[in-house]
Amino acid sequence: MSEKSAELEMAVAANRAAWDASARLHHGNALWQELAEGFAKPGFSTFDATMTRTLDGLELQGLSGVQVGCNNGRETLSLAAFGAERCLGIDQSAEFLKQAALLKDIAGASCDFLCADIYALPDGIRRDFDFAVITIGVLGWMPDLGRFFQAVAGLLRPGGRLVIYETHPFLEMFEPESETPHLPAYSYFSTGPFVAEQAITYDGSAKQAAPPSYWHSHTLSGIVMALIRAGLQVSRFEEHAHSNRETCFDVYENQEAQLPMSFTLVARREDG
Ligand SMILES: C[S@@+](CC[C@H](N)C(=O)[O-])C[C@H]1O[C@@H](n2cnc3c(N)ncnc32)[C@H](O)[C@@H]1O
Repeated sequence: MSEKSAELEMAVAANRAAWDASARLHHGNALWQELAEGFAKPGFSTFDATMTRTLDGLELQGLSGVQVGCNNGRETLSLAAFGAERCLGIDQSAEFLKQAALLKDIAGASCDFLCADIYALPDGIRRDFDFAVITIGVLGWMPDLGRFFQAVAGLLRPGGRLVIYETHPFLEMFEPESETPHLPAYSYFSTGPFVAEQAITYDGSAKQAAPPSYWHSHTLSGIVMALIRAGLQVSRFEEHAHSNRETCFDVYENQEAQLPMSFTLVARREDG
């Protein structure tokens, strides 16, 4: 095995352990209660207004979708509200997929979940999805974007579309909890890995120790070029002034000198 592959495998395995160890902190709290109550009602969706507009525009009625890095499945389940059918959520955290199974039961949904590393998908899985979804907080867990987008493109039928709604890479330069949150703290070009040894929560509230996790920053050109090389043709790209991540990043919203904070990208598998 090459040194690069060994490094990738180490980071992916460490991240699996870190996400599994953090899962219990995402269950039984107010956010979980909201999800459980929401999915008890038909047509519930957790997507925000921006992603809702994007998905509405893609006319997903009757189409099959796959979400990579689905976590507790809230968004895979939400795709039903847009008319999508036969959806699959993929995540490598078995502990989060237990939560997805609970939400699926509450919703009475027909989608499926697969516990797998995107870099080592099992043989024999469906590879003809009409669309794929990647949202907030997935790309940074990927040590190798080239191999990542090859795997994602391989899940789509020819002509299938990929939708990304992610954090804008510029935001990775800032540290909202520092004493000088508005000064750049990290080089745009430092790829990491940034190693954290704290439980992973979305509001940064948990400070307890957890297995080390490996975060990789990617530049915008790195993201776009990796998907072009994977045979995906960009058809839409929008940068947004609003945040779609932890609430501590809200300090960068509504500024006179506004940073780009999130982006939407739609691409199509070229051979379609
Ligand atoms: C921040 S969460 C995604 C949350 C989701 N966007 C949402 O809003 O509900 C990132 C997920 O990526 C998953 N992940 C990280 N590396 C992975 C890999 N190599 N293969 C599959 N899933 C992975 C983690 O287990 C985690 O559940």
